[in-house]
Amino acid sequence: MKAEIISLGASVPEKTVTNDDLSKIMDTNDEWIRTRTGIRERHISGEDIPDEEKIFSLSLDACEKALKRAEEMAEAGAARSFKGREDIELVIVATSTPDFSFPATACRLQEALGLKAAAAFDISLACTGFIAALGTADAYIRAGIYKNALVVGADALSRLTDWGDRGTAVLFGDGAGAAVLGASDGDSGVITSILHSAGSGAGALYSKAMYFNEAEKAAMAMDGKRVYDFAVRKTPEVIREALEAAEGQEVKFFVLHQANIRIIEAVAKRLKEPMEKFPHNIERYGNTSAASIPILLDELSREGKIEKGDLLCLSGFGAGLAYGAILLKY
Ligand code: UT7
Repeated sequence: MKAEIISLGASVPEKTVTNDDLSKIMDTNDEWIRTRTGIRERHISGEDIPDEEKIFSLSLDACEKALKRAEEMAEAGAARSFKGREDIELVIVATSTPDFSFPATACRLQEALGLKAAAAFDISLACTGFIAALGTADAYIRAGIYKNALVVGADALSRLTDWGDRGTAVLFGDGAGAAVLGASDGDSGVITSILHSAGSGAGALYSKAMYFNEAEKAAMAMDGKRVYDFAVRKTPEVIREALEAAEGQEVKFFVLHQANIRIIEAVAKRLKEPMEKFPHNIERYGNTSAASIPILLDELSREGKIEKGDLLCLSGFGAGLAYGAILLKY
């Protein structure tokens, strides 16, 4: 048995902030942001979402969408191990910006979604969080402990943004993505899941404190160049490691964490793969941390660009410095 993705869902705040909007409040400009990062706009949660609800409400919306699709598939007889939400036995939320220290966001979601028979916990691994959550759920399913799981990547880095630091403030956006997973003994599912931490570089990207309501004290600090160099070096390495399990089959898409279009282009070049195989939506969302991979997967799925049986390689990297890759048949 292994975990297969049954359905996906995503959610972002309504409010968009363009590069021109940012240039009105800090010394930056659209041209610099677009050419250095690829970002044109990002979604930032404002007063439409109460502060104590940001991660919870974005995650809940993403989960409701994913569960609704899974339930429709179950009705059509296409969801195998998943018959209905009462079958969810495990909820894992990857977030580094939870609304509260505790309870775990996963427990609040479990209650709100009525998933009574589930174990629920959070994982904190910043931009690599979704890879860690999906890999953990796959390990439980492989071990035969659970059959159906809900995994979420959600972050609101706007709550840790120092709007006076143009080197970080222009990069991030808020959002959540969710996947319903089921046990598969067929062709589709996770083939291999790899997670590493560099064992150095913890000081290259960090939040200064745990005061979510006092952003100026908590704001993140980043050595952008160091993180950039690390990402460009380590992402191809871990992808190659994952591809060893592909047994010569061709990967349709490399779904990378959306941190910077130049990082994605550099990884494609190092892997000697065409950019067409590296879908991206960083233009519209910025870097949504743990949410970027499931938001992109959800878009690809809704646009019909990925279909059952496609070989995908997901890869995340970021604070830690952590990085990982998952090779799966969709
Ligand atoms: O999920 C993982 C999270 N983090 C990352 O992935 C970040 C990885 N790093 C990066 O993406 C890039 O290093 C950045 C986008 C953060 C920075 O790009 P860069 O090409 O490395 O620029 P830089 O830091 O070398 O700065 C070049 C110039 C500097 O000016 P001077 O010293 O040459 O006069 C900066 O002060 O650009 C200036 N600059 C800006 N100018 C306009 C830095 N930020 C801005 C800005 N607008 N927002």
